[in-house]
Amino acid sequence: APRQDSPLYALLEQAAAYYRQQLRHHAQKRRAVDYLKQRGLTGQIAKLYDIGFAPPGWDNLMNHLSKDSTEVKALIEAGLVVENPDSGKRYDRFRDRIIFPIRDSRGRTLGFGGRVLGDDKPKYLNSPETPVYHKGRELYGLFEARQQNRQLDDVLVVEGYMDVIALAQHGVTNAVATLGTATSEEHLKRLFRIVNTVVFCFDGDKAGRQAAWRALNSCLPVLEDGRHVRFMFLPEGQDPDTLIRSEGQDAFRARMAQQAQALTDYMFRHLSEEANPNTLEGKAHLATLALPLIEQIPGSMLKRLLRQSLEKLTGMDLDSLPPPPPPPAATD
Ligand code: CTP
Ligand code: MN
Ligand code: MN
Ligand code: MN
Ligand code: MN
Repeated sequence: APRQDSPLYALLEQAAAYYRQQLRHHAQKRRAVDYLKQRGLTGQIAKLYDIGFAPPGWDNLMNHLSKDSTEVKALIEAGLVVENPDSGKRYDRFRDRIIFPIRDSRGRTLGFGGRVLGDDKPKYLNSPETPVYHKGRELYGLFEARQQNRQLDDVLVVEGYMDVIALAQHGVTNAVATLGTATSEEHLKRLFRIVNTVVFCFDGDKAGRQAAWRALNSCLPVLEDGRHVRFMFLPEGQDPDTLIRSEGQDAFRARMAQQAQALTDYMFRHLSEEANPNTLEGKAHLATLALPLIEQIPGSMLKRLLRQSLEKLTGMDLDSLPPPPPPPAATD
């Protein structure tokens, strides 16, 4: 666990304040503000997500926050300054980018994402893993979702910063993002301590569909009875940001109500694409793929119902299967 008293927290907070200030006062703030406006964001939502601007230049933040070399070392540890391993040269990680602070559930800033204002590459830069920022643990937007909702009933998991913020801009205030990293079991444990329903809504592209299947696999070990996971698949080429901007909140919610599929439906549908249950060979293959997934589910009612579904699909009595081989005996 991160040290509660890590001096990095204060430094990261100062950095967030600096980027926030630059969005309001820098000579080039117009470019940044216009970019945010062009993406449909109001000042109010920018404030809520504490969006900032890292101005162009190699050492603005460094000069602003460090007076001696120990302070530069802390900036490097916080992921804000990069040191070139060959030349030893030091420079600001985030330059000429829109800045999205990544905050923990208490609102402390842990790191940042930075987006280019145009089409340059890489589109996003993110803080590296640091003593206080662990990507497999944090969910972007969770703090803000809780700020905006007295009680959260369900959470929408999306891919990116702009998905979370655009959804909030249009009144869907319960989205969080995994920021391009895989949804981990730890992410899910964290969410299920707060809500009983998690809905995944990744981009309508190949990467998004692959992320959904990986997310399903991470969900299985935490699927207690009473917990619900659903998957919403978007039209090709769309993400939650583009979709809610084009169709609005009501249509987006209607789409969710009509099209989000239960984890179990998605699981059988996906497996049936690989193992066609219309032949005996396909049924055998389907059972081989499905059983190890079903067995990971801790919810005993759901597990039983899924075994029954698999029996219906394959016409096989699963209880007549020999038990799986015992785990190897412990040696120590
Ligand atoms: N991402 C990243 N680095 C990249 C591309 C993506 O870290 N070079 C992460 C970001 O967190 C991004 C998320 O993956 O928000 C989803 O990626 P993508 O769909 O490509 O970007 P969008 O969020 O849709 O970006 P935008 O709408 O701003 O173009
Ligand atoms: Mn994508
Ligand atoms: Mn897993
Ligand atoms: Mn996207
Ligand atoms: Mn997008």
